[in-house]
Amino acid sequence: MRVVAVAGAKGGVGKTAAAVNLAMVASAAGYRTLLWDLDPQGAATHCYRARARVKGGATRLLGGKRGLDSYIRSTDHVRLDLLPADPSFRVVDTVLSSRRWPDRVIRKLLRPLDRSYDVVILDCAPGLGIVTESVVAASDLVLVPVVPAPLSVRSLEQLQAFIDEHRPGLPLLAFLSMLDDRKVLHRQVVGQLQGDPRVALSAVPVSSAVERMGLEQVPAVLASPLNLAAVAYRRLWAEVEDRLDLDAPSGSVIDLTGLAEQADEPVRPDDTAPSGVV
Ligand SMILES: Nc1ncnc2c1ncn2[C@@H]1O[C@H](COP(=O)(O)OP(=O)(O)OP(=O)(O)O)[C@@H](O)[C@H]1O
Ligand SMILES: [Mg+2]
Repeated sequence: MRVVAVAGAKGGVGKTAAAVNLAMVASAAGYRTLLWDLDPQGAATHCYRARARVKGGATRLLGGKRGLDSYIRSTDHVRLDLLPADPSFRVVDTVLSSRRWPDRVIRKLLRPLDRSYDVVILDCAPGLGIVTESVVAASDLVLVPVVPAPLSVRSLEQLQAFIDEHRPGLPLLAFLSMLDDRKVLHRQVVGQLQGDPRVALSAVPVSSAVERMGLEQVPAVLASPLNLAAVAYRRLWAEVEDRLDLDAPSGSVIDLTGLAEQADEPVRPDDTAPSGVV
């Protein structure tokens, strides 16, 4: 089992969009996947049409008396399960700080799931608090979206400093999020980050297909598989997969692009990949 955290200090940069889509891509690639929504806002839970409630809330869940498996729900998708959010996660830092070893809590909770899942994706709330310490201690890779703006680049450095302090050596993979290459500033930031080994080659463009996820409650990679953002998430997963040293997936592969013709909505010409790009 490999654990990927989607995290960072900044809010609204595309963490949930990435977690939701990468979880779908990973499960379609044949991996038994768990998406854990650690954000009290419950946006990832909403995208998978589940209720953002956990019986007993954060205190009981993190207390560990009952295994995480008792809170996990299946989704409409094969090999993809969800650990939903709960509003009580707003006080998760307080709950964790009352524990003797707060940074070990998430790792310990996940350990019994080792044989049940190949990939666990943690969708984190923005911030670098105690919960992020616990997440970083449990993860094999931290994924951080960077919106091309000078301050977002700074937040990448903040996360790097946080990792250096709490889990030196933990791999970090940044990716450009909501990229609009018609904007000069965006192109400048792309230039600035080019060649940085921590930055993924795939960048997720700004796309209405991603925005529509909140309404349609279907991951963009499924609803609009030929959309450029969907293409970017699939490529990003390939880069994540490369860094995770995963065993070969046990399940059969589902070709998401093959579902394009059955997608609810016609593919839009403005942000669709040219043929041959998958
Ligand atoms: N590639 C994209 N193109 C267009 N809109 C996007 C894209 N990615 C995310 N968004 C939109 O931006 C908003 C914030 O995205 P998202 O919720 O994924 O960010 P987040 O980092 O998880 O936010 P938070 O820190 O609040 O959890 C959402 O309305 C989402 O639909
Ligand atoms: Mg989010």
